Amino acid sequence: MALRKIVQVGDPILRKQCKEVKTVNDRTRMLIDDMIETMHDSDGVGLAAPQVGVLRRIFVVDVGEGPIVLINPEIVETSGEQTGSEGCLSIPGRYAEVTRPDHVKIRGLDRDGNPVEYEGDDLLARAFLHENDHLDGILYTDKVADDEVYLEEE
Ligand code: NI
Repeated sequence: MALRKIVQVGDPILRKQCKEVKTVNDRTRMLIDDMIETMHDSDGVGLAAPQVGVLRRIFVVDVGEGPIVLINPEIVETSGEQTGSEGCLSIPGRYAEVTRPDHVKIRGLDRDGNPVEYEGDDLLARAFLHENDHLDGILYTDKVADDEVYLEEE
């Protein structure tokens, strides 16, 4: 495994539409393992493939219960609403209060290419939605006004 460089805001890569993964192979798994290591190294709760410069529909999340991998994710259902603090490893030192659904059902493929489905509430729902947005070139800062993005205090 290896740490990958995290693409920073302003790089056009973060605004691209990611392509579906056609085959899950060793190369895919190597990417996923690197993404998990990179996410943990940066104390993040999620990381999407475009954030390491790969325009494929893959993300990883870990809200403290172990890593979850989703390839070609599809949001099946959302409900409720939550407003909470949100940041992004590609936009260091910033955060905003973002409103999103507080329950999400999502399906996709796991690290081995097998179908999986997850349901998430609260932070996990937020992480699923935030990372899924990355695959369509959307950043959390798109969801709030410019003056609602704050500098993190040291
Ligand atoms: Ni992000």
